[in-house]
Amino acid sequence: MTQSSRDRAPAGDGSLGRSVSPRDAEAAERLLLAGRLGVEGRLVQASNATLYCSIEHEGVSAACVYKPVAGERPLWDFPDGTLAEREVAAYAVSKAMGWGLVPPTVHRDGPYGPGMVQLWVEPDPDIDLVALSRSDDEAIRRMAVFDAVVNNADRKIGHLLPPGDGHVYGCDHGVCFSVEYKLRTVLWQWRGKPLTAEAVEALGRVHAGLREGPLGERLAELLTAEEVDATRRRVELMLKHRIHPYPPEDWPAIPWPPL
Ligand SMILES: Nc1ncnc2c1ncn2[C@@H]1O[C@H](COP(=O)(O)OP(=O)(O)O)[C@@H](O)[C@H]1O
Ligand SMILES: [Mg+2]
Repeated sequence: MTQSSRDRAPAGDGSLGRSVSPRDAEAAERLLLAGRLGVEGRLVQASNATLYCSIEHEGVSAACVYKPVAGERPLWDFPDGTLAEREVAAYAVSKAMGWGLVPPTVHRDGPYGPGMVQLWVEPDPDIDLVALSRSDDEAIRRMAVFDAVVNNADRKIGHLLPPGDGHVYGCDHGVCFSVEYKLRTVLWQWRGKPLTAEAVEALGRVHAGLREGPLGERLAELLTAEEVDATRRRVELMLKHRIHPYPPEDWPAIPWPPL
């Protein structure tokens, strides 16, 4: 999936010291913000300039993705130069939900200018992603709720990253948070079904964070006021109806290609 660089992942090979777990958000954010970035290769199937990098700080190292704003492909439906901030905003929502669905992600300067830097999560190659995406796996169901909150317009199968411990991470959240309803995903299996109790709790945490917690302040730094408002309204709608949303009628509901 990547160039040969993936076989030389610096994380965990022992040559660059200790690594960091995506579950340790604080340590990972510290490393991603302060670390020295070394570009190792370009992810060939990516549509933007998505660079596979090593990162190292005070004896801790990891692999990560660096997407410089300068390498963002212009899109007709999202303002230019905003995808990296949307990725960081998606991470902030993931943190507020409390499910750790998005690998630690920061906004910072890098060798090709400012961009987003996200911890690399190596997916277990023995997991069948197509089967996982169609399953009723609870981790995938959480992802469907998260996508509805952030209004993800591009949840492809290849954006699911299961490291093999039962957890599933998601990547590529550049085209999220549109004010218009643009949910486009391969995860429609729960449409119209009741939200789980844990989903209602997670939505409650997001709602509280948007109203008086740090989430609202963080999103205000990364998105427009209209986009933050629309996020709050999506959460309120889900809390009111307590169901997984239905596909939009005026928008292709499944990304193409779905992989
Ligand atoms: N944090 C990550 N950990 C592991 N793999 C990742 C990560 N971010 C991206 N990838 C891999 O790289 C591919 C391209 O990255 P993506 O974020 O989809 O870029 P683009 O915005 O250009 O589509 C993904 O489909 C996924 O396979
Ligand atoms: Mg992608």
